[in-house]
Amino acid sequence: MAKKAVEIRNLNYTYPDGTKALRDINLDILAGESVGIIGPNGAGKTTFLLHLNGILKGEGFIKILDFEMNGKNLAQIRNEVGLVFQDPENQLFMPTVFDDVSFGPVNMMLPSAEIQASVNEALKEVGMPDSMKRSSHHLSFGEKKRVSIATVLSMRPQILVLDEPTSNLDPKGRRNIIKLLKGIDKTKVIASHDLEMISKICSRYVFLERGTIVRSDSTPENLANLFSG
Ligand SMILES: Nc1ncnc2c1ncn2[C@@H]1O[C@H](COP(=O)(O)OP(=O)(O)O)[C@@H](O)[C@H]1O
Ligand SMILES: [Mg+2]
Repeated sequence: MAKKAVEIRNLNYTYPDGTKALRDINLDILAGESVGIIGPNGAGKTTFLLHLNGILKGEGFIKILDFEMNGKNLAQIRNEVGLVFQDPENQLFMPTVFDDVSFGPVNMMLPSAEIQASVNEALKEVGMPDSMKRSSHHLSFGEKKRVSIATVLSMRPQILVLDEPTSNLDPKGRRNIIKLLKGIDKTKVIASHDLEMISKICSRYVFLERGTIVRSDSTPENLANLFSG
């Protein structure tokens, strides 16, 4: 039996203003699985993702690989869960692509040869091997999305978590991202409205509505009909 990458029991989260965003979430994700988190705006997808590396802390039980979510394990969990935000402006904040992609490895105090190697590898994986010296601010939106993914790949996490990875992309940029994500051999958790992308990348989806999992099934069957009816 495959190892569990994510185990969640009775997770509830209420924002400080009283908005109840997650209600009694129970979910297991096996190592190597790719799971789509779908559902309408405001369903709680982003709130859910932010719990996977402890940015938000609700009530309930979360275990990532061998680590129960708590203050003591937080650093370890953040090394293993690479979270890519929906908006690259929240991910890229350094002057150059190299600085952004090396930020994680530098923080992990890796030796400089290893930092260089992980940056090379991550940028190659997202198809931007020659962009190291470019300014992150001047990249196209699609390039920013790809460099955002590289900033977490450079940490070599076991679990990749992506919030709306294809949002606001043109068709070519979207195809690029789908191809690139399909090629990444890690446990993946992807929140999106883009059902076609989810059905291409994920073997399973979870449908959230008002903070609750109302349905879970394998993809792509039934997926296209979900938002119609
Ligand atoms: N910072 C916040 N403060 C208060 N409520 C929030 C905050 N962020 C999100 N919410 C609310 O929590 C619910 C879930 O939001 P979110 O997780 O962003 O949903 P989704 O990503 O599925 O669109 C919504 O009702 C949203 O308005
Ligand atoms: Mg969202």
